[in-house]
Amino acid sequence: MAAAPSELAYVPFVSVENMMRLVHRIGIETMLTGIADYIEEDFRRWESFDKTPRVASHSAEGVIELMPTSDGDVYGFKYVNGHPKNTKSGLQTVTAFGLLANVHTGYPVLLSEMTLLTALRTAATSALVARYLAPRGSDTMAMIGNGAQSEFQALAMRALCGVTRLRLYDIDRKATDKLVANLSGLGFDLTACSSAEDAIEGAQIITTCTADKQYATILTDNMVGAGIHINAIGGDCPGKTELHRDILLRSDVFVEYPPQTRIEGEIQQMPEDFPVTEMWQVITGAAKGRRDARQVTLFDGVGFATEDFSALRFVRDKLESTGLCQQLDLLADPDDPRDLFGMLQRAKGNTA
Ligand SMILES: NC(=O)c1ccc[n+]([C@@H]2O[C@H](COP(=O)([O-])OP(=O)(O)OC[C@H]3O[C@@H](n4cnc5c(N)ncnc54)[C@H](O)[C@@H]3O)[C@@H](O)[C@H]2O)c1
Repeated sequence: MAAAPSELAYVPFVSVENMMRLVHRIGIETMLTGIADYIEEDFRRWESFDKTPRVASHSAEGVIELMPTSDGDVYGFKYVNGHPKNTKSGLQTVTAFGLLANVHTGYPVLLSEMTLLTALRTAATSALVARYLAPRGSDTMAMIGNGAQSEFQALAMRALCGVTRLRLYDIDRKATDKLVANLSGLGFDLTACSSAEDAIEGAQIITTCTADKQYATILTDNMVGAGIHINAIGGDCPGKTELHRDILLRSDVFVEYPPQTRIEGEIQQMPEDFPVTEMWQVITGAAKGRRDARQVTLFDGVGFATEDFSALRFVRDKLESTGLCQQLDLLADPDDPRDLFGMLQRAKGNTA
């Protein structure tokens, strides 16, 4: 019989089941706040990260992306897809998994599901940004697009910003009914609306979170009044936007990483030198966020690799106290590091 794998062969793996246990053990709003703290901490040390726009592989139906980054000690990447037509055949639009590794040895130190974690980190990022940019005292959010991300967005906006009133709209009424059913009993004031125009009535924050592989116009300029924060997260691919360009001309636009957002965000509709402010600068105090109550602020959020890195760091830090992982025999680790073949040979006959 072949020897058992060495200690070094094992990598902690967080399955979907364990991620769900972790969320319930911590409490979803506490976890969203915790992830937002890690994201904020990493935005504060922005300059220590190795940054690159994500590597996207496009097809007619969607996109598959790799999102790498490193802080010099830890490396991370996420695999994520975006296939808007998937829901019609019972599949999700977005699925993901990710990894952290030790930069000094190259050995992975965590492998995790990230479909749930992406929804959590996207919502945590949106709410963190809204805490810096939304008008003071915002308590009402229009939620346009009521799919997989929407409940997470709502809970994060409440946990971080105090939003308690939600005005909901989706072209598919079944999505809104699902959102209402999931959030009822959780203390929100919920209104299902018959149009995007109706949904934004009285809202200080507008979240657009729709999925369509084309240029869409979820909001037109005449719909957006003064003193609004727009959290636009559904436009995140070349050829996939949600806002009329006139809104961009009237807003102060905030982004994660301009080289990626200019390819994927709402600002792909604008010239290369269209002015934007980087969120890390607002968070460190190097740039101004909201200047006055009447300003329209727009977060052109596409999702950046450091946010996934922060979320994975959060999960890794929780594993010691919760033990919510399995040890995965992921790395071939021979006793003699140069004798990989010998290790394979010694396992011969162990094919059962
Ligand atoms: N910025 C980020 O970091 C980030 C992260 C995750 C997902 N996303 C993007 O967010 C979007 C939503 O993701 P999801 O997982 O919730 O998708 P989903 O498919 O579960 O939900 C999208 C919803 O949008 C609705 N919709 C489509 N067109 C609409 C329109 N014109 N008006 C109103 N509603 C409309 C659909 O009916 C559906 O219910 C996707 O485009 C995804 O790529 C962005």
